[in-house]
Amino acid sequence: MGKIILTGDRPTGKLHLGHYVGSLKNRVKLQNSGEYDEIYLMIADSQALTDNFDNPRKVRDNVLEVALFYLACGIDPNKTNIFIQSQVPALTELTFYYMNLVTVARLHRNPTVKSEVKLRGFEESIPSGFLNYPVSQAADITAFAATTIPVGDDQLPMIEQTREIVHSFNRIYGEILVEPKELLPESNKEKRLPGIDGKAKMSKSLGNCIYLDDSDEDINKKVMQMYTDPDHIKVSDPGKVEGNVVFTYLDVFCKDSHFDTYLPEYKNLDELKEHYTKGGLGDVVIKRFLAKILCEVIKPIREKREELLQNLDYVYDVLKQGTEKANEKATITLNRVREQMGIDYFENSKFLDEMKEKFNK
Ligand code: TRP
Repeated sequence: MGKIILTGDRPTGKLHLGHYVGSLKNRVKLQNSGEYDEIYLMIADSQALTDNFDNPRKVRDNVLEVALFYLACGIDPNKTNIFIQSQVPALTELTFYYMNLVTVARLHRNPTVKSEVKLRGFEESIPSGFLNYPVSQAADITAFAATTIPVGDDQLPMIEQTREIVHSFNRIYGEILVEPKELLPESNKEKRLPGIDGKAKMSKSLGNCIYLDDSDEDINKKVMQMYTDPDHIKVSDPGKVEGNVVFTYLDVFCKDSHFDTYLPEYKNLDELKEHYTKGGLGDVVIKRFLAKILCEVIKPIREKREELLQNLDYVYDVLKQGTEKANEKATITLNRVREQMGIDYFENSKFLDEMKEKFNK
């Protein structure tokens, strides 16, 4: 059995630094590691519709957008198969069969769904499609026989749910589905980048994002607004590094070589932190330093995206071909599922032979 990756994103907006740190960078690394036999990267438009059903334009408008960012960040379509979820009908059909294996009470217990329901004000009446999206995620994962799901910890309940479905299916219908395992970020700092306002998560709706196509000017402006230490008022005041967004970002992005290039007065981040903690180091200095580093990170992505924008036909083609390949693979799984469930009536005339035998007895 091969090592197969499946992962994806809902196309609801531009991708930002939080996506880059939390998943994109790692996906490119996994892609180039040569350790995986097949890699599928899904633009989850059907799932995006479960909470944007009343705004289909938003989903439609962001499908190519997300693909552009994938390619701009270094996803290579020769190694990673990028596809559009809704264009693989086998996924929808699998979802319908898997729904039989999950109770409504179990769906209500999913902690990620719970918090999203609150966030979206669905408490009064949850759309059943939304409640069911973890089941559809199980379909996504099993359709490709994925063994490895690189995700953040908010997705753990989905993978747990998938494993439960796999167990039930295999027990009732026969052992054909592959049990997936999550692949969590290696280090704590890759887990989740806070917003520029210090809120736990970078998110479009909170307006606290640095986008992967922001100009140097945008980046500078946003870094200058960053939340630091509210008690660090005068330069001479001692400053706090914990919970200071500038340092959280520096922890993620800063390398010793950046000091040589941009801030030669210091050897490394430890020295900078020490000075800040002692007092005598102003926010503007650390912010300018961070801004330069972030400009360096984002520039190649922004430029690659601009280049791709001149060639949308190519991007479209990548999606079309990727979706074709995804359909081939998912259809194989669907056919096996139908066979195991005994709903393969028109395959090999097996059904008719059986019925003839039954009626001739
Ligand atoms: N739920 C994921 C997100 O919101 C997207 C997704 C859909 C996904 N299906 C998946 C992720 C299967 C991993 C595996 O970003």
